[in-house]
Amino acid sequence: MTATAESPAVGEVKAMTVTLRILRSKPEGTDEHKPGEQYWQEFQVEAHATDRVLDALHKIKWEQDGSLAFRRSCAHGVCGSDAMRINARNRLACKTLLKDLNPAKPIIVEPIKGLPVEKDLIVDMEPFFASYREIMPFLMTTGNAPARERLQSSEQRDRFDDTTKCILCAACTTSCPVFWTDGQYFGPQAIVGAHRFIFDSRDEGQWDRLEILNDKAGVWKCRTAFNCTEACPRGIEVTKAISEVKHALTTGEF
Ligand code: SF4
Ligand code: FES
Repeated sequence: MTATAESPAVGEVKAMTVTLRILRSKPEGTDEHKPGEQYWQEFQVEAHATDRVLDALHKIKWEQDGSLAFRRSCAHGVCGSDAMRINARNRLACKTLLKDLNPAKPIIVEPIKGLPVEKDLIVDMEPFFASYREIMPFLMTTGNAPARERLQSSEQRDRFDDTTKCILCAACTTSCPVFWTDGQYFGPQAIVGAHRFIFDSRDEGQWDRLEILNDKAGVWKCRTAFNCTEACPRGIEVTKAISEVKHALTTGEF
C-alpha cells in the first residue's frame, strides 16, 4: 500500500509519547502514602494512536512498574474484567483506543466508583456479584423436565435478546449516582440480569424476581439518569430494560 497524507502505509504509523495519570493505592502503603490512601501517579509510554488503553497499561506494568495492579483477561471485550474509569467515563480498557481519547492530553485512569478499592485499579466486586445472585440469574421451572428441549419462537427469544449480552463488567452499576450514594440499591446490572429471565417465555420465576426488585433496594431507586446506558460496552439499553421491569411490575404484563 502506498502512503497518502490521510492514510500512512502499514508499518509507517509513528509512535508517540502518551501520558497516563493513574489513581493508585496500596493496601500496605508506600514511603509517602498511608495504607489504602489514594494518590495520583503519572507515567509516559511510547504508543501508537491505534493502541488501546490496556496496551499502555501493560507497557507500564511490564517496563516501568510491575506493582501497578489492574484486572484483565480476554483483552477482547468478552470477559468484562477491565472496566475502569477513563477520562471520567466507565469503559473497558481493552476496547478503548488512545486515538479516541485525545492522547495529546494526559489520559486519566481511575478505578470504577462505588465499590471498595483493593489496590490501584482493582475493586472488590463482591457487593456487585451479591446483588446479581440476589435476583436468581438462572432458569426457574416447575414440574418434570420435558423429554425434549423447551421450545421458543424467534419473537419470544427477541424479547430478551438485548439483556443476554451482559458480560458482568459492572460499568453500568458503578456509573450510577444512586448506587454511589445509596448503599442499598441493587444497581442497574442486577435489573438487567433479572430482565433476561423475567421476559424469557420458558421461565416460571418471574414473580419471584419481580418481588425482589419491588423491594426498597430495587427498581424504584432508579432515577433514569441514563449513565448506565452510556457506559455499557455491549450497547445494552440498560435504562430501557429497567423501565420494562417497572412496567411489568405495575401492569403484570410481560
Ligand atoms: S449491562 Fe452492560 S455495563 Fe452493565 S454489567 Fe452488563 S455489560 Fe457491563
Ligand atoms: S480484558 Fe476481557 S473485557 Fe477487557
